[in-house]
Amino acid sequence: MFSFLLAWNLTRPMRQLRSAFERVSLGDLTVRLLPVMRRRHDEITEVAKDFDAMAERLQVLVAAREALLHDISHELRTPLARLQLAIGLAHQNPANVDTSLARIEQEAERLDRMVGELLALSRAEHQGMLAEEYFDLLGLVEAVVNDARYEAQLTKVTIALTARQPADYTVKGNAEMMRRAVENIVRNALRFSLPGQEIKVSLAAEDRLLTISVTDQGPGIASEKLSSIFDPFVRVNSPQSGKGYGLGLAITRKVLLAHGGSVDAHNGRDGGLQIQLRLPTALAVTAYKWPPY
Ligand SMILES: Nc1ncnc2c1ncn2[C@@H]1O[C@H](COP(=O)(O)OP(=O)(O)OP(=O)(O)O)[C@@H](O)[C@H]1O
Ligand SMILES: [Mg+2]
Repeated sequence: MFSFLLAWNLTRPMRQLRSAFERVSLGDLTVRLLPVMRRRHDEITEVAKDFDAMAERLQVLVAAREALLHDISHELRTPLARLQLAIGLAHQNPANVDTSLARIEQEAERLDRMVGELLALSRAEHQGMLAEEYFDLLGLVEAVVNDARYEAQLTKVTIALTARQPADYTVKGNAEMMRRAVENIVRNALRFSLPGQEIKVSLAAEDRLLTISVTDQGPGIASEKLSSIFDPFVRVNSPQSGKGYGLGLAITRKVLLAHGGSVDAHNGRDGGLQIQLRLPTALAVTAYKWPPY
């Protein structure tokens, strides 16, 4: 009798664990083990904690996926609705054909660009690190700034680039995705700058951590909205915001995370927005395990 009770008591947590895994595999992510195992004070409690952390993370990820899918369908519908309207108008009155075709072309282009950005977003997540190479971040930033300067001629915005000290700016990762990430930030700054204003791009290296800061003199962002601008499809209300899809910063964040880095935004002391991208140098990635967790 005693042996039976002992055996039962010893195998019970295993049974609980098995049934929890089974529920997760069936798609129930609300299952948590710690509440039922809290009374034990052994290694199994630690396993229960890890299990709960995993279930929690999966739940958050799945919810984010669902929200993203919802947003994508919603955003794709707007140009599609206008496409259908243009086709309808052309059917109604043949005199409308030319203007309708122009509208159809415009909306098709919009859809194409949006799908392109969505693909970039998912690539940043899944293949971000597949095509790995070593590249010089300073050269990459210089190229992006030069392209932006070309556009900035039109709006008479100046872009100043400074690299604080000669240092090793070699980064390991996907140069094309990184170029996109930096370009998204610089182009946003350009879009929110008025003629005559200046954008400061600076690069610094410290302890094998590289920082790119992009500061503009534009309107900045209300502080309560600062943390949400890196989420997909978030556009803060302003006349200039209407032109994009709200995907640029989401792509940038994904790319930086895939490279073991981070990105944050804050308003400058005298107005304007400052975005900082941080990422480890190639040496930090190979010499130490990076990120350090
Ligand atoms: N430099 C900036 N100054 C002020 N607001 C900004 C700046 N950069 C971004 N924002 C705000 O953050 C929002 C999200 O930026 P994000 O780059 O993700 O999207 P977008 O530029 O609107 O569209 P996309 O980049 O997909 O074309 C913008 O719509 C804008 O409201
Ligand atoms: Mg943008």
